[in-house]
Amino acid sequence: MKDKIQELLKRKEIAKLGGGEEKINDQHNKGKLSARERIELVVDEGTFEEIDMFVNHRAHDFGLDKIKLPGDGVITGFAKINGKPIVLYSQDFTVFGGSLSETHAEKIIKILNIAMKNGIPVLGLNDSGGARIQEGVNSLGGYADIFLLNTLASGVIPQISVILGPCAGGAVYSPAITDFIFMVRKSSYMFVTGPNVVKTVTHEDVSFEDLGGAETHAAKSGVAHFAFDNEIETLLNVRRLFSFLPSNFMDRPVDIPYNSEDIISDERLDIIIPDTPNKPYDMKEIINLLVDKQDFLEVHATYAENIIIGFGRIAGMSVGIVANQPQVLAGVLDINASVKAARFVRFCDAFNIPLLVLVDVPGFLPGTEQEWNGIIRHGAKLLFAFCEATVPKVTVITRKAYGGAYDVMNSKHIRGDFNYAWPTAEIAVMGPKGAVEIIFKKEIERSENPEAEIEIKLEEYIKKFSNPYIAAERGFIDDIILPRDTKSKLINAFHLLKTKVDKNPLKKHSNIPL
Ligand code: HXC
Repeated sequence: MKDKIQELLKRKEIAKLGGGEEKINDQHNKGKLSARERIELVVDEGTFEEIDMFVNHRAHDFGLDKIKLPGDGVITGFAKINGKPIVLYSQDFTVFGGSLSETHAEKIIKILNIAMKNGIPVLGLNDSGGARIQEGVNSLGGYADIFLLNTLASGVIPQISVILGPCAGGAVYSPAITDFIFMVRKSSYMFVTGPNVVKTVTHEDVSFEDLGGAETHAAKSGVAHFAFDNEIETLLNVRRLFSFLPSNFMDRPVDIPYNSEDIISDERLDIIIPDTPNKPYDMKEIINLLVDKQDFLEVHATYAENIIIGFGRIAGMSVGIVANQPQVLAGVLDINASVKAARFVRFCDAFNIPLLVLVDVPGFLPGTEQEWNGIIRHGAKLLFAFCEATVPKVTVITRKAYGGAYDVMNSKHIRGDFNYAWPTAEIAVMGPKGAVEIIFKKEIERSENPEAEIEIKLEEYIKKFSNPYIAAERGFIDDIILPRDTKSKLINAFHLLKTKVDKNPLKKHSNIPL
């Protein structure tokens, strides 16, 4: 008996070393943590239960039958994050470069199935040279099996991917199907084809970092939702993201205790909107004054910055926030902003996370670049996402809500539950200047003093339309509120909406304009 216990302990010790100490040191020398160190950092202390530690590959070709490393390049199991169960895999670059063999894939599929059956989120820590070249099509099949399960799990359980090294070729499509991608600056990269292939095909010279580094994907392509400077910061923010999420589509996010004596009337909100309508201001100031403890986890912080998305808490309740940013492109909706916000709205709706929408939008961005690239198709995604969402949806119009963008930004007409406006709101088909020049064109042309005529008409238009009162008369706005009271209004609205039930018609699935 004692011998058998000793043997087990020895085998486990060997398995825990993965590719061996030398390779772990190589990993450290590159500024990277080992697969096990990453797990320890991201999960609650002492909660990780490993499975399939002794699994090994079944390949024979190219001498692989002589190299057997238990675990086969990926550590899998279950654990807790913030006290709630998750399943995870962590690819081990010290074993065959973390490459994906048939059995490596089977291990990932096993935990994905556990996650689906039990309604538990999945965390994937990726650090892999891609398909295990020696296994050929078996490895490709393994990837496809993972893609299928990622797709079937989409909308059932949250799936979070963290890229902590290479992620190339078709391998990128598993993270791409999941809900959120984290990357680390200067040590992770994702691309369909690497710099060498790019050079051959397009004759471009590009570095790994420029082609597919964290900064590129966070700011240019929008593939990465989060980018941080090092692995520790990245993994701590993964924990933070999980704190806002429920375990599955039937679950709700956990409310955390909220001190009801906290100040909820904040007069600083009364002075944020500038007196001049075209002067920008920072919508993040408003968000930070509304969320508990100014704790706002921004998603896609450096991509399409004209719209802000992220998670926060209102009186302890997790909410997804979508807000126009007047400080960037005047908060206009363009292709990237529409797609960015649409996917976020759909994530929140899939996982019962209520939506708070803050509106200051002058409309959709005009121009050939936008039209030719399909602003109609892409803008429709955001409209579609808000229309389809059945979670509690509360809107606050802080300033402009013009044209189609008024409708899109969770208006009452598309099932906004409570739609509030600040007294500074301007709800109209378009801004005063453009409107006056169109509808009073003839009067202005005929006038002896066109400038004075424009001023008179502008005043008339502003009085009539650049305010929230007409919309409120029609009930399109439920109340015009003092900015300082916004948080208390939101608390009451989201409390009431906790029992909201709304449904979409029975169908196989909708056909969002992709
Ligand atoms: C088998 C691999 C491997 C792979 C790396 N290794 N990638 N083994 N299959 N795909 C092994 C190496 O042989 C080496 O083994 C060890 O991992 C570490 O690799 P190094 O090259 O020494 O490390 P480094 O210099 O850091 O370079 C990392 C790398 C490079 C950039 C990832 O290894 C690389 O280019 N690998 C190939 C990447 C690739 O083209 N993959 C296929 C992509 S296509 P030893 O024993 O020497 O330590 C794909 C299709 C998916 O994945 C399709 C899905 C549908």
